Parts: sequence; C-alpha cells; structure tokens
Amino acid sequence: MAIQWFPGHMHTTRLAMVKRLKSGIDVVIEMLDARLPGASANPLLAGLTAGKPALKLLNKQDLADPARTALWLDHYNALPATRAIGLDASEAAPAARLIQACRALAPLRGGMVKPLRVLICGIPNVGKSTLINTLVKRKAAKTGDEAGITKTEQVIALASDVTLYDTPGMLWPRITVPEHGYALAASGAIGRNAYDEHEVALALLERLQGVYAAAVATRYKLDDAAAVMAMHADTLLERIARQRGYVQAGGSLNLQKAAEAVLNDFRSGALGRITLETPEEHAAWVAAGEAQELRRLARRHPNKPDPQAETP
Ligand code: G4P
Repeated sequence: MAIQWFPGHMHTTRLAMVKRLKSGIDVVIEMLDARLPGASANPLLAGLTAGKPALKLLNKQDLADPARTALWLDHYNALPATRAIGLDASEAAPAARLIQACRALAPLRGGMVKPLRVLICGIPNVGKSTLINTLVKRKAAKTGDEAGITKTEQVIALASDVTLYDTPGMLWPRITVPEHGYALAASGAIGRNAYDEHEVALALLERLQGVYAAAVATRYKLDDAAAVMAMHADTLLERIARQRGYVQAGGSLNLQKAAEAVLNDFRSGALGRITLETPEEHAAWVAAGEAQELRRLARRHPNKPDPQAETP
C-alpha cells in the first residue's frame, strides 16, 4: 500500500526524542493500540531506545479481543526488561499502576537525588492525550524548558520523584509490512487522505473473515459466519452495501459508503471487540516483510553484495 505519511513535524519529533533520550531516560513507555499491538509498535523506537527498560501500554483494551490481549501481555512480559499493562480510558486513576510498573523496571531510580525519568511515546490516535489528560487531571501540564525540546514535549510530574516526558504521536517513514499498513489505516492512525478507504476496508474484511466472521454476519445481518467466511471480500463489501441500502443514482452500489461504514464500525467497536493480529501472526508478517524488503533493496542495488548471503 503506497502511503506518504512522514510529514516534517514527525522528523522534528524524532529529533526531540533522541535529545531527550540522550539527556537521560530510565524507562520508555510505548503506548500501543491493543487492537493492533504489533502494527502500532514503532520500529524506529527499538533502535532509538536500544536496551532501555520498556513498559508497553496496550491501550483501548475495551475495543480489543480480551483473549488476544492476554496473549500479547504474555508475549511482552516474557521479553527482557519489559513489562506490559492493558489499559483503557475508563480507568479513572491509572497513575498508580503506571508508576508501580516503572519503578519495578528501574528499581535503582527514585527519590529526590535520582528521580525516575520516564518517556512516553506512541503513534497518533493511540489515546495518549486522553491518558495524559487523565494523569494531569485536566490541570495544565508543565512545559519543558530545554531548547529544541520545549515545543514538542510536555513534562508532567507523575509523583514527587517521577517525571514523565510526553512526546507527540509519531509514525515511521516506510511501511515494510503490508498488514501493518492496513491495520494502522483501519485503526485511524493515518490521515484519511493518505490511503484508499475502499482498499483498506477490503483488507480489514479479509482479516475479519477468519476469527470474527460471526461478528460481521451479525452486524450486517448476513446469513451466517460460514457464508461470510466463504465469500470473496469484494463480494462481502457488495453484500454489506446492498444490505444497508447504499445505492447511488443510477442504481449501482455505493461501495465507498460501505467501506466507510466498515471502517467506522471497526473503530467505534460496533463490530465487537476485535484484535487484528496475534503475536505469532505478527512475527510471520514481519519476517515476510523483511524478506520482501531485502529483495526490493537487491533489485535497486543489484551490484551490492547481499549481507545475508553466505561468504565462501
Ligand atoms: P492521541 O493523543 O494519541 O492522538 O489520541 P487521543 O487521546 O486524542 O485519542 C484518540 C481517540 O481515541 C479519541 O477519540 C479518544 O476518545 C479515543 N480513546 C482514547 N483512549 C481510548 C480508550 O481507552 N478506549 C476507547 N474506546 N477510545 C479511546 P475521538 O473519537 O477521536 O475523539 P473524542 O471525541 O472521543 O475525544
């Protein structure tokens, strides 16, 4: 899927994040969308934060499939120096849980002499502002005073010895895993004019036709799960358009309207609690994406030796 989505301000955000990390950060909180935890993880971040203790916040868990959220929490909690928490906006006072997890990740920090310094980041629309507003209880957040960072970050005192540095939502320049592109677009992380809604809705329906076929059948009053599973996604979208009465002047189906309805239903939770990937599916997609990327680079630079090739 061709998406141009790395506007200048995201580059500025990345630079500010690098500066902040250099200034000393003890724990990096990455806010993920619990409906697409792997796709919403920023691949740039791993390189930037290399080895720092990490807290993964699986936000919007109210919209995600609880069984799959449990899989993802286990997956992250098994990684070194990593903890994971499920979260959603209905939690009125999440600060205590966050602080406790951060302290456990950096037990040697804390107290006035060595305050715990925490950076929070995440993709656009993941719910970071909502969380920050809850954390500061709508009080105006303090502003950082360092040149080059001030405009791009908020500084919040989570406790007398815990400081949270908040960065604006950031995406990354090139999507190498097509499933990630579709999931991010379906979730609303990418601006609407950067992708084709019809194409994204078809990809979303294909994904839902597996585990969530019954939810699709119920929502759109289609025959049953087995029928939904058996249909080509194009046919499924047409059935949805017909069922909803989305017909244009002249009698043809308004598939654009049907595509928008499917995307809106996924985003709002009207289709039920859905998670678009398991850790295993995610790993397989990433491996395929990386292999595809290597082939692409080899085509662009045919004379460069393949770093993966065995040396004689
Ligand atoms: P951002 O700063 O990361 O860009 O995200 P923001 O907090 O602005 O949240 C993006 C959208 O996600 C908002 O909806 C917000 O209400 C919703 N949201 C945030 N956290 C949760 C959550 O845990 N569960 C659910 N279901 N939704 C959440 P919006 O429709 O764009 O705006 P609004 O009118 O609801 O404020």
